[in-house]
Amino acid sequence: MVKAELERTNVQLLQAEKMASIGELAAGVAHQLNNPLGGITLFTQLVMEEYTLPKGAVKGLNRILDNAKRCRSIVKELLTFARKTDNEIHPQDIKVILSQTISLVEDQALFQNIAVHKDFDEPVPLVPVDVQKMKHVFMNIILNAADAMDGTGNLSLSCWVSPKKDKVFVEIADTGPGIPDDMLLKIFDPFFTTKEPGKGTGLGLSLAYRIVEDHGGKIYVESTVGLGTAFVIELLLSPPDMEGPGHGR
Ligand SMILES: Nc1ncnc2c1ncn2[C@@H]1O[C@H](COP(=O)(O)OP(=O)(O)OP(=O)(O)O)[C@@H](O)[C@H]1O
Ligand SMILES: [Mg+2]
Repeated sequence: MVKAELERTNVQLLQAEKMASIGELAAGVAHQLNNPLGGITLFTQLVMEEYTLPKGAVKGLNRILDNAKRCRSIVKELLTFARKTDNEIHPQDIKVILSQTISLVEDQALFQNIAVHKDFDEPVPLVPVDVQKMKHVFMNIILNAADAMDGTGNLSLSCWVSPKKDKVFVEIADTGPGIPDDMLLKIFDPFFTTKEPGKGTGLGLSLAYRIVEDHGGKIYVESTVGLGTAFVIELLLSPPDMEGPGHGR
């Protein structure tokens, strides 16, 4: 038990180091890409406005614009990932945040054959979190689960308080294909994705990891190939360095 916990702490430390250096690199690259990308968009638009072009050329230029737009949104995601924005920490009802997040996506086609189960402790004390960032974390994990199940299966959302009443746990579990052991070590790495190009950037879980870590919490995953995957988020009820509302970094 103690050994397993030590190993888990070690993995978390290693991951934190890896994230810090990749974060710096990502920020640098993203900044440098922003200007030329703006230039590509601007000059393409100018050419389209100034000249009467054959249909084929307009089609090609529109594709350049679309691709440049996609690059810009990846750069934006990278910057959010790398930049540590201030946290707006306030006591929040985690169950409400979970319910609001799932209701945002439940009506989408991808969720039509997914049964959502909720199992929430009553009551769960308010947890000091940045509500938008926590929604982002839950959303990323829920969408990953729906993707993994390919739109069919069970999604369970649970929330409970630790026996010592010092932590709140959130679990998001799916009945998808599971994640093989060798891949488990990589899923929190920025840009690790098994999705086809254009479908995923591989930033979802690394951003979730960063956000939970910023809250003084922990995130881990348990998965069995063929049975499913569960992400567990552990949040402190009174993080030591986060006293007072509106705490920034
Ligand atoms: N619930 C899950 N079941 C199976 N595999 C998963 C699950 N969640 C994540 N993964 C694996 O982890 C990879 C990384 O996930 P992550 O959210 O970081 O990136 P992504 O979903 O591929 O892309 P993005 O989130 O940027 O759109 C996924 O591509 C997938 O292979
Ligand atoms: Mg994702």
